[in-house]
Amino acid sequence: MEQYKRITIFDTTLRDGEQSPGASLYPEEKIKIARQLVDLGVDVIEPGFPASSSGDFAAVEEISRTLQNVEICGFARALKGDIDAAIAATKDAASRRLHLFISSSQIHLDFQLRKSRNEVLQLAKDMVAYAKQFVDRIEFSPMDATRTGMDFLYEMVEAVISEGATIINIPDTVGYALPEEYGSIFSNVIKSVRGADKTEFSAHCHNDLGLAVANSLAAIQGGATHVEVTINGIGERAGNCSLEELVMAIETRKNRLGFTTGINPLQIYETSRLVSRIMNLPIAYNKAIVGRNAFQHEAGIHQDGLLKNRSTYEIMDPDQLGIPRNMIVLGKHSGRHALKNRVQQFGIELEEAKIDELFVRFKELADAQKRVSDDELIALIDKTVDINIDPYTLLEIQVLTSNQMDRMASVKVRDNQTGQIESYTGTGEGPVEAVIHSLQQAVPVEVTFEDLELHSTSSGETANGEAVVTVSVDKDQFRGIGIDRDIVIAVSRAYMSACNQAVRSMGHKMNTTVKMA
Ligand code: KIV
Ligand code: ZN
Repeated sequence: MEQYKRITIFDTTLRDGEQSPGASLYPEEKIKIARQLVDLGVDVIEPGFPASSSGDFAAVEEISRTLQNVEICGFARALKGDIDAAIAATKDAASRRLHLFISSSQIHLDFQLRKSRNEVLQLAKDMVAYAKQFVDRIEFSPMDATRTGMDFLYEMVEAVISEGATIINIPDTVGYALPEEYGSIFSNVIKSVRGADKTEFSAHCHNDLGLAVANSLAAIQGGATHVEVTINGIGERAGNCSLEELVMAIETRKNRLGFTTGINPLQIYETSRLVSRIMNLPIAYNKAIVGRNAFQHEAGIHQDGLLKNRSTYEIMDPDQLGIPRNMIVLGKHSGRHALKNRVQQFGIELEEAKIDELFVRFKELADAQKRVSDDELIALIDKTVDINIDPYTLLEIQVLTSNQMDRMASVKVRDNQTGQIESYTGTGEGPVEAVIHSLQQAVPVEVTFEDLELHSTSSGETANGEAVVTVSVDKDQFRGIGIDRDIVIAVSRAYMSACNQAVRSMGHKMNTTVKMA
């Protein structure tokens, strides 16, 4: 017998998530994300709102036709036109459900629908009965359920179950509920409503009070077996329950909670990046699980503990979430042990006296600028041992930019092994592309440009730009960070640093560990 109860993960990134301001998608983009969601292992995908636009209709139709190993959910208001569109768009799905909703709270009834409870109840029943002619699996949502009195909620839920609804979603539409309260709404509805024993229950939480994940966990403890989530927690206003946070809470605290999901954690990071990129929604640095700092440690005491044993300060293993990382952020709080470890990661073995010398230089820089990037550390090591440990040094960059023709870049790069300095030129539709095209020629390894993040490290006209570039060689990823007032130069430095790491790790220039006195 299964030790843990299996929770159905219903992904609404492409419907509720797309309701994030500024995040709308083209059909091809939806299809790309939907494919990744299947690789991630979600059970249900709600790919859009077919009645809302021809693009959404086409996306839901294509996803239904091509992704046959996942349940597809068509979304509709309690209106015949919406239901018809959702039924038509999902007709080719191997397995499907229709998700139908109408408001149930008095606030919505009075001010938005301007209908009485009886009118809304009748409409809900009629539309479930109408939809039931076409689809067997019907999910019904009383919108704003958590601000609906329990008596009316029971009445509505019971009425739609009697008309054929098979899944009841109890949405916390405005993110108002508290965990214990939301959990008991489920247990009370399940206990009190006729037909609940043959019905599945779903949780759908918004994050207005930052409680969406806590509420969703409370819901499954109260009897829900489906949870509606989005990647990176995106969605209307403050967003929805975040898939990665919920799934990792379930996974990490499995023995306490007694639940499991079908999600493949290794795909979490990849999915998160894809959604962030395509939807143009950056991820906060401190976002749980997928934020840039989620597995980075700044405090010296934490760094020391981690180097002795990862579990001293980490409850999850980022490797198992597909997260590439440097777990140690070198900054003013870092100790000698962390510094030595990073130097060793570069493949360099320094004598203790040199480490002491490097540590003094490192502390001076860290005190002055808070954080020391790998690039800067390499420069400090160079000074300490008086040789270049980077395979290549970017000496000069020039970019010609124009609104009339391709941008042109020329770079001067020194091969530190031979001492030879070469110039390379490249063009591109933008200055970054032009610089990358020129730098690529300097590196003897086939490097794929994977990702670029740009941030401003302070405000105002004189702000520094920080570029984080990820490149890959086969399946290995390397990240470089560059900081400069000029963002094109920041990107170039970051790219060069990532390439240097790639070259070093491939052993093309420096075989294995470099021992230095
Ligand atoms: O938040 C909500 O109520 C929803 C639907 C389930 C209608 O997104
Ligand atoms: Zn919602």
